[in-house]
Amino acid sequence: MHSHPLFARAYSALAPRADDAGAAEHRQSLLAGLRGRVLEVGCGPGGNFPHYRGEVIQVLALEPEPWLRARAATAARQAGVPVAVVGGLAESLPVASASIDAVVFSLVLCSVTDPVAALAEARRVLRPGGQVRIYEHVRSAAPRVAGAQRALDRFWPHVAGGCHTSRDPLASAAAAGLSPAWVRRFDFPPGRLARPLREHVLACVVAEG
Ligand SMILES: C[S@@+](CC[C@H](N)C(=O)[O-])C[C@H]1O[C@@H](n2cnc3c(N)ncnc32)[C@H](O)[C@@H]1O
Repeated sequence: MHSHPLFARAYSALAPRADDAGAAEHRQSLLAGLRGRVLEVGCGPGGNFPHYRGEVIQVLALEPEPWLRARAATAARQAGVPVAVVGGLAESLPVASASIDAVVFSLVLCSVTDPVAALAEARRVLRPGGQVRIYEHVRSAAPRVAGAQRALDRFWPHVAGGCHTSRDPLASAAAAGLSPAWVRRFDFPPGRLARPLREHVLACVVAEG
């Protein structure tokens, strides 16, 4: 069940404000240097689309939530590179094996049903030498905050489209056979209320072996 009409509308209203407050720069860093055929998983309303550059020849953008998918289709028409928006789930990507140069997860691994399965699927569809880019809020390094995140995750996913605050996407990547080429950790945004969602990671992970 991937229809979240209230969350979809709230997220679409709030995401541009977060972009203005600094998230847009993180999106640019997420996508910098990508080329070829890119698969973006759970694209939401399409907040990354303005940040793809000309070396990217096509973006296949997957979005299971119908209202967000319609927003993404509108955003795709304004993008500087060709973007095709389709339905589909991270855990069973509708894409041939070894056909994609880069897979992008942007604030999505918190929400998918099974992050390890999603990353294993990303690994399956990557061409040899391909990469997975990740931009996610993560489990806190501070034990007290991590405990609060676990408590919050008893109800937060029910009001936030499945989002969990206490996930560790790099551990999920390792479990899927993907290891870091580079990792940047940073806090965003400031403010006490944002504490459970503040610690972020930007990373590039690649297939081991
Ligand atoms: C917080 S929004 C992020 C949207 C967008 N990636 C961004 O950076 O603004 C989380 C997104 O993950 C999508 N999502 C949730 N579960 C998913 C799944 N199993 N497969 C693919 N996308 C999923 C939601 O529909 C939503 O668009």
